[in-house]
Amino acid sequence: MDPRRGHLDPKDWKAFRDVCHQVVDEMVERFQATSSGPVWREIPEEVAQTFRDGLPEEGRPIPEVLVQIRENLLPYTLGNTHPRFFGWVNGAGTPAGALAEFLAGSINANLGGRHHSPILVEEQVVSWVRDLFGFPSGSSGTLMSGTSMATVTALSVARHRATRGSDRQAGLRGQPPLVGYASRDSHHSVADAFSLLGLGADALRGVGLAADGSMDPLALESEIRRDLEAGHRPFVVVATVGSVTCGAIDDLRRLRSLCHRYGLWLHVDGAFGAAAILAPEIAPRLAGIETADSLAMDFHKWFHVPYDAGCVLVRDGNLHRSAFGGRPDYLTSLPSGPASGEHWPMDLGPEMSRGFRAFKVWFTLQALGSRAVGEAVSRNCAQARALAARVDLEPELQRMAPAELNIVCFRYSPEDLEESELNEVNRRILMDLHARGLAVPSPIRRGDQLGIRVCLCNHRTSAEDLDLLVEAVLALGRRLLPVG
Ligand SMILES: Cc1ncc(COP(=O)(O)O)c(C=O)c1O
Repeated sequence: MDPRRGHLDPKDWKAFRDVCHQVVDEMVERFQATSSGPVWREIPEEVAQTFRDGLPEEGRPIPEVLVQIRENLLPYTLGNTHPRFFGWVNGAGTPAGALAEFLAGSINANLGGRHHSPILVEEQVVSWVRDLFGFPSGSSGTLMSGTSMATVTALSVARHRATRGSDRQAGLRGQPPLVGYASRDSHHSVADAFSLLGLGADALRGVGLAADGSMDPLALESEIRRDLEAGHRPFVVVATVGSVTCGAIDDLRRLRSLCHRYGLWLHVDGAFGAAAILAPEIAPRLAGIETADSLAMDFHKWFHVPYDAGCVLVRDGNLHRSAFGGRPDYLTSLPSGPASGEHWPMDLGPEMSRGFRAFKVWFTLQALGSRAVGEAVSRNCAQARALAARVDLEPELQRMAPAELNIVCFRYSPEDLEESELNEVNRRILMDLHARGLAVPSPIRRGDQLGIRVCLCNHRTSAEDLDLLVEAVLALGRRLLPVG
């Protein structure tokens, strides 16, 4: 036998097995200890330096590599598994999901297409999403890196419809200027999608907000009319379920009827908020989502599946395939065998080689069940309501936005301080909380005000964690005054 055959596999399988067991043990211990220790810590320069070494020509034993990981990588991660990580919108992950990642790595599946069991897993996950959101059987979907790419994909299909299919060859040549609409608080990935698709970010109109932070349908209609009068071609409305500033949920039913009236595509950005479909007391606020033309949502946020895993769903599966399908000769399929298979995910998006993202979603939901995930969503929303109520009661704190779902924005705001001083105090509160590893909320800017944004999408967070945060903000604020 050729001695070089499989020479990248371990030479000593027993030693490799022992290392694997050790890694699994350490992983479990780390998960058990997620609540202890600082949320985040600064990376010392000498540690950062170890990641600047050049490409090694010779390999070294895995236990040696693990030493570097233990010492230099694991202590300095972002902290989003910790119960007091409240920054941006970051899922907390689960041990089940981590195990799935490990297993998926050992399968090394390429989910571009072809006929193999992993494809069935992805199809099953997509069918769960379809059922959850009430999309019809002819709808299509595929897993993507996240909502940003899912939105690019969905809006490509919307553009395909608006140009009657000519976009694939001719681009936007000869088209009237296509314009679309989203709330002023929509995620920046929507504007990025417009620019990536050659429409230009200016073609996305930022529509004014109602008092609850959602898109104002009356303002939307005026914008559409203004564009029509100006000879533009409105083609899409991007609704948000869970705005990144305050968790606002757009009125999907009203947006749907406006889209009907003007012949527009309704895309829903449900990056994290779509998970509220699993929370019985919140799900009714998503009514109308089942009528959307497309939906982008994430599993890696409020479903706690490890990064990265998002999903796009398109109501008209044929249109979706027409926007991306068409395979080169070497990808011709056969009636049977591995080159067969009816649906190849590569026909539904820009990626050809694709990892087995569906597996960690499938595994997590098999292991936890949708009810437990929904309960975590409900608990986070109740925590947000309690935090908002506490902030409203504290005279030194001021709320900066409505708290519609799971996000509370506030700031330390005693009387008699200039705006610039208040911003500086709040900036220093945030940096102090971070540096001490006490908690990681993220900064938020509203107009010229800087404040503290707490996003609750962590199933490990408790009421005590939030008490600790509020007490720490108050104590730091008092200590930092006057700014000096
Ligand atoms: C409302 C909203 N839309 C889109 C995105 C982008 O999602 P992703 O980071 O999965 O690409 C986010 C991310 O936080 C978001 O909150």
